[in-house]
Amino acid sequence: MVDELLNKIDDRSARIGIVGIGYVGLPIAVAFAEAGFDVTGVDLRQEKVDTINSGASHLRDVDESRIKAVVDAGKLTASSDFEPLREADAVIICVPTPLAGGQPDLSRVVFAGEAIAKVLKPGSLFILESTTYPGTTEELLRPLLEAGGLSAGQDFLLAYSPERIDPGNPQYDFEDIPKVVGGIDEASTEAARALYQTVVPKVVVVSGTREAELAKLIENTYRHVNIALVNELAIYSHELGIDIWEAIEAAATKPFGFQAFWPSPGWGGHCIPLDPSYLSWKVRQSRSHEVRFVELAQSINSEMPRHVIERLSALLNDAGKPIKASKILGIGVAYKGGTEDTRESAGLKILGELWARGAEVSYHDPLVPAADIGGAQMTSIPLTRASLSEQDLVLVLVPQQNVDWAEVSEHAGLIFDCCNAFGRTAPNLHRL
Ligand SMILES: NC(=O)c1ccc[n+]([C@@H]2O[C@H](COP(=O)([O-])OP(=O)(O)OC[C@H]3O[C@@H](n4cnc5c(N)ncnc54)[C@H](O)[C@@H]3O)[C@@H](O)[C@H]2O)c1
Repeated sequence: MVDELLNKIDDRSARIGIVGIGYVGLPIAVAFAEAGFDVTGVDLRQEKVDTINSGASHLRDVDESRIKAVVDAGKLTASSDFEPLREADAVIICVPTPLAGGQPDLSRVVFAGEAIAKVLKPGSLFILESTTYPGTTEELLRPLLEAGGLSAGQDFLLAYSPERIDPGNPQYDFEDIPKVVGGIDEASTEAARALYQTVVPKVVVVSGTREAELAKLIENTYRHVNIALVNELAIYSHELGIDIWEAIEAAATKPFGFQAFWPSPGWGGHCIPLDPSYLSWKVRQSRSHEVRFVELAQSINSEMPRHVIERLSALLNDAGKPIKASKILGIGVAYKGGTEDTRESAGLKILGELWARGAEVSYHDPLVPAADIGGAQMTSIPLTRASLSEQDLVLVLVPQQNVDWAEVSEHAGLIFDCCNAFGRTAPNLHRL
């Protein structure tokens, strides 16, 4: 079974299906299409399907010209129907895995698995890429795919490969990052390795699906814990009158054994706030205790928005102003710089809370033209001398791209910088 697929991968005649064409699925679909494969992207959102089929991009990370080239060449098509996957030799699942009430919500994986089972072609390879707890591929996805009567390992191949992209990172695209793969058996691992080898520089093979699933959770838990560490240190450093930013810069000059993480107003996005909870949930399910590092980091990071509001409130207080009726401009409402993604954005939470407390809130984000702030629909306002100088406080949340920082520092009165966008402090500038 696997030899035929390997031959098809080798001569690029394998047809590839990508289920879920968002931040993860779209770059993968384009990479395989550019490598010469016929690719079909399946997504339930018709507008995304229409955008791709028209040769356009719904994500700033994936250049429109790349999509247009592969669509025009007939290498990439999109569909809101799973039927075209009947022809697919390899299907990669990239659907969201959010939390619901703090628990893993795998309903989209279940939906996709059930839909794929109805069109599953014997001899094909299925790969889950969505971030999830160890055991998902074998315990959840495998039975869903086998529901049609075919057996994994015997009739089709099955593997897990975590996605590791970093949207907004100009240094590392999908094609620059090694892939980790682990299959349910040797043939599945080999097929997944061969497939990804056509689009990434290096494929790292692990012994099973669980190791691959855990690898992703280790990466994100590592970030989660280290972000919490510097955030907690930022709180205490401020109380002790020590400049945390300068201290981290100094620590980062050590050429080994230290990786710098920087304080922030909280974490956001679809990964760091969510993924460690998948790990914690799995351990709680099977061992009845928690991953203490995860729980601690969770509580510190989720407290950061409150800490930012306390600091901001003290700054306004020093200027003789309450939060209520103060004009506050937030800069950067995406969850991090370089992206338009506002999922789980700490900045939006902070501005929403300030709005609820009666502040006159506005925001500026060149990549986010409109946002829901505390239930109010707002649009990004331009940064001008007038819009900046009328503020009681300018709150810098993330170092967003294309912000005119010189204009901000020249015209804003009081600035509270939560991301070190300006460097060292000036009289009107306060850092987290
Ligand atoms: N965004 C990131 O930076 C990133 C990085 C690494 C891993 N991940 C993981 O990758 C997975 C996908 O994340 P994303 O950011 O690409 O999400 P996304 O919301 O950008 O994209 C997912 C797409 O799947 C579609 N979809 C949902 N249910 C579907 C279904 N049943 N069938 C077909 N399409 C469906 C949605 O319409 C959406 O377009 C998640 O598990 C996430 O944790 C994300």
